Amino acid sequence: MGRNDYGLSSRVAEIMKNNYDTLATSYKKTDTKPDKQYSMLPTVVELADDLSGKIVLDIGCGSGFFANAFALSAKRVIGIDNSAEQIQMAKSGQPLNVDYRVADGLNSELPKADLVNAPFVLGYLESVEELKAFFASVYDCLSDGGRFITVIDTPSGSDLRKYGARKILHGSGEGVKLEIVLYNGDEEVCTLWATYHEPQTITQLLADVGFKEVAWHKPIVSQEGLEAMPDGFWDGYVNHCELGYVTALK
Ligand SMILES: C[S@@+](CC[C@H](N)C(=O)[O-])C[C@H]1O[C@@H](n2cnc3c(N)ncnc32)[C@H](O)[C@@H]1O
Repeated sequence: MGRNDYGLSSRVAEIMKNNYDTLATSYKKTDTKPDKQYSMLPTVVELADDLSGKIVLDIGCGSGFFANAFALSAKRVIGIDNSAEQIQMAKSGQPLNVDYRVADGLNSELPKADLVNAPFVLGYLESVEELKAFFASVYDCLSDGGRFITVIDTPSGSDLRKYGARKILHGSGEGVKLEIVLYNGDEEVCTLWATYHEPQTITQLLADVGFKEVAWHKPIVSQEGLEAMPDGFWDGYVNHCELGYVTALK
């Protein structure tokens, strides 16, 4: 069996590439995870604030989970993803004011926008240098006063599968591998591999490229979510959810 630079078997190395063309159908099942629909979405929408008249760029938009929600209040939304399969899914039932494109959002010039949302994509940048270059490119594409939102995984060693994810760090510190097993209810949906970036790295790099008011936020849980799930389900979630919500202003 072949081995790569990390000493991994070629099969494991292939899995770690996260081929989203292959993962598209199973990843779509994550849209109805309780944490995604009742907390991530309302939290990001709240952080986006008033979008009237604004252009939103959603990087790593997948099948359009966040982009379609922004489209309800933004003037126009551009969703980019380098998986053709994901973009094809996004295009089915796409609102008129969303423009979905297959594009590399992490290593190319970005379209101009007033808000950039990039949830769960920083883990596909493998080094601090790549992360910094990406933040610089986001900064450049934003209008003055524009806002950047990102969401990152902040594994704590807890087993939070009831909310939809179990996160396992392979090592400690900036740049180690992070294994993310996603669940919807009792069903294991898929496993993703990412590069873990420490919160302080992200804060520092955003400031280094010129962003102001870099802030980390706790999530909210929507009223709908409180009503939909059994009593006690959300107890402790807001303080232990293993997600970091970051905003920064140009
Ligand atoms: C964890 S998924 C998140 C999808 C979506 N943001 C969501 O939360 O439902 C990561 C997405 O980033 C996309 N992606 C990874 N690397 C990318 C790149 N270089 N350029 C554009 N999209 C990328 C993947 O194809 C995938 O759809």
